[in-house]
Amino acid sequence: MKGIILAGGSATRLFPLSKVISKQIMPVYDKPMIYYPLSTLMLAGIREVLIISTPRDLPMFRELLGSGEDLGMSIEYIVQYTPNGLAQAFVLGEKFLNGEAGCLILGDNLFYGQNFSTMLQRAARVEKGACIFGYYVKDPRAYGVVEFDADGKVLSLEEKPQSPKSNFAVPGLYFYDNTVIQKARELKPSARGEYEITDLNKIYLTEGTLKVETFGRGFTWLDTGNCNSLLDASNFIATIQNRQGFYVSCIEEIAWRNHWISDEKLKKLGKQLDKTDYGQYLLNLE
Ligand code: DAU
Repeated sequence: MKGIILAGGSATRLFPLSKVISKQIMPVYDKPMIYYPLSTLMLAGIREVLIISTPRDLPMFRELLGSGEDLGMSIEYIVQYTPNGLAQAFVLGEKFLNGEAGCLILGDNLFYGQNFSTMLQRAARVEKGACIFGYYVKDPRAYGVVEFDADGKVLSLEEKPQSPKSNFAVPGLYFYDNTVIQKARELKPSARGEYEITDLNKIYLTEGTLKVETFGRGFTWLDTGNCNSLLDASNFIATIQNRQGFYVSCIEEIAWRNHWISDEKLKKLGKQLDKTDYGQYLLNLE
């Protein structure tokens, strides 16, 4: 299984700052936003990652993460010239996936909770079909929405419905088998002119191979699509980290715990940042 992070521009510009810098590079508390989705892929055991972004922003991601070698990973980069839909990630990523299964995560989605790694590793073992998730939210109208029957069977999927059939939003984290590229190529643009990820998921639903796992209410999924949700996410991460002393989505720590980098490498990375709390955290890991 390989991973794709979609960190391009969306149709709307939410911040004045996004005129000069990618949203997904802005900090969520103490680290760039992209560390959070990258850490999710790493927890799923995914070591080969493609980052997709705009011509302006891609060099910044490259400067930040390089070849991935420092994390014991391989990171590649490709430009998306126009933000014409999430499903385009698989058309752009065809060469990178090279016939393998793929996981897509949106660059502004943040996940945190117990047993997450176990859920991710199970989803990453998908051989036929797709695995997506459902998360109960008060107002799901801004999201893909999944409807279940009384037995938990999926009845429908809709993108940003005005009258949602359930409160279960679909987070920006999707696991697909290796037929995904073929399916992504079949898609037609929606009414808003985008190749919709929900339409891709509907193909799997019709085929009878879509699995939807729900996250419980003790789990946290945040998307940082506007300034309020960005502030909420920063406050959330600060609260957890300052209470526990464990960092959320510290990519160097995860690489080290996955045995992708050595103790020496971790020390070296810590020393490069030793004037910061982040660097001290790396140096004190045991
Ligand atoms: O966050 C989860 C939701 O993400 C899902 O529930 C929806 O089904 C899915 O369509 C998507 O909805 P959004 O309205 O959040 O999508 P948005 O267009 O805002 O794009 C999400 C991120 O992906 C955003 O940070 C920009 C980036 N993006 C978007 C498009 C359309 C790209 O990099 N390329 C694109 O072509």
